[in-house]
Amino acid sequence: MAQIHPNRSLKSIFGITLMAATLGLTACSTPVDPDVKARQDIMKNFGDAMKVMGGMAKEPDTFDADVFKEQAAFLAEESKNPWSHFNNKDAAGNAKEAVWSNVAGFKTEAESFQKATAELNAAAQTATSIDDAMPAFKAVGDSCKSCHTDFQVKKD
Ligand code: HEC
Repeated sequence: MAQIHPNRSLKSIFGITLMAATLGLTACSTPVDPDVKARQDIMKNFGDAMKVMGGMAKEPDTFDADVFKEQAAFLAEESKNPWSHFNNKDAAGNAKEAVWSNVAGFKTEAESFQKATAELNAAAQTATSIDDAMPAFKAVGDSCKSCHTDFQVKKD
């Protein structure tokens, strides 16, 4: 029979928390430019929203219209926000030099992304299945990818 050892499991939970705190401190020791952090945080949230919707695309039975609408609305709203955090070319983060050498190209990508997320948000309002939103969802994914190809430094 499996036995629970409260003391031991508490200790290991504490150990993990401690480890996370240590890692957090290490990460903080390299100061990150606030603009880089702000845009990376927004991008991470984009990624989370895409994961939620992508999960429904993979398993259409799990489609939840309210959750999908919420994520689509979030993307449409936030789609305007990263770009003002790219003004300082000395704060490169993982952005390619092209962000500053090809300003027009970057702006075009950012605008087509805003358009794609607005269209996804519109489609989400009436979608009763993932199929209804699929073309608009794919267009948003393509837009993320297209910009990253030219403007984001790939790690590994
Ligand atoms: C117009 C260009 C553009 C669009 C559109 C765009 N991104 Fe990005 N993204 C970037 C750039 C540039 C970076 C690198 C930022 C940095 O490190 O300073 C980045 C970084 C990221 C990161 C890494 C964040 C981190 O923690 O370092 C994620 C995740 C990401 N994007 C997800 C997305 C998703 C998902 C979408 C679409 C829903 C999207 N992006 C749309 C340009 C774009």
